[in-house]
Amino acid sequence: MKIFREKDYDAMSRRAATVIAGEIVHNPACLLGLATGSTPEGAYKYLVDWYKQGLISFRGVLSVNLDEYKGLEPSHDQSYRYFMQSNLFDHVDIAPENTRVPDGLTKDALAFCAGYDAYIRAQGYVDLQLLGIGRNGHIGFNEPGDCFVKETHVVDLTESTIDANARFFATRDDVPRQAFTMGIGPIMAAKKILLIASGEEKAEAVYNTICGAVDPHCQGSILQLHPDVVMVADEAALSKVIAAGVKV
Ligand code: GLP
Repeated sequence: MKIFREKDYDAMSRRAATVIAGEIVHNPACLLGLATGSTPEGAYKYLVDWYKQGLISFRGVLSVNLDEYKGLEPSHDQSYRYFMQSNLFDHVDIAPENTRVPDGLTKDALAFCAGYDAYIRAQGYVDLQLLGIGRNGHIGFNEPGDCFVKETHVVDLTESTIDANARFFATRDDVPRQAFTMGIGPIMAAKKILLIASGEEKAEAVYNTICGAVDPHCQGSILQLHPDVVMVADEAALSKVIAAGVKV
């Protein structure tokens, strides 16, 4: 794992955006695996700026998102489809038909999940997968548990994730209790992974991901087994790793 230690959120965002822009420049028809949450917002802003300056184009890019709340319609302002439209897709030249985010209203969840995996497989897997990390170490919405689930699936969100995401909703009761998430299989099949983290509340998850045992109770720890992971984090997120004396 290559680790970029950045001084703050903005530096982390810029560095992450350079990795994504580099992928697009080298492979204009790449399949990008995209993430939501507050962490990637800054990186998406840089990408939109660079697109507007004519430095990059998403014309040939395909995208597939990690996850979506089950039960939220795509137009709901807390759906991940809405997030992607407003933070990236509406501002760049990506073709709408080339973007995929799980549909939160899907009725036949099993068929939908199998189809999502089949699409990723048919594209030859994701070229660059962007990942944030949950406070409990989740990647996508793969929550801590006794195993790593390979396929895309429906997950019950943990109380800690519901608490963490309640800030985006009017009340905690409004937070959906389930979500669709890409499984660990397609994430680990990505050719390259870009893991980003910011803030002290992620320090424990970052430490367990990088320094802990490979253990499904911290789903991020599986990334230790991937041959090409770039982690970009600010000093606050790396604080526990730094305190442990690990050179980053
Ligand atoms: C969310 C998403 C993840 C995201 C993580 C961290 O619930 N499902 O994909 O990486 O939790 O979110 P944030 O960046 O807002 O801290």
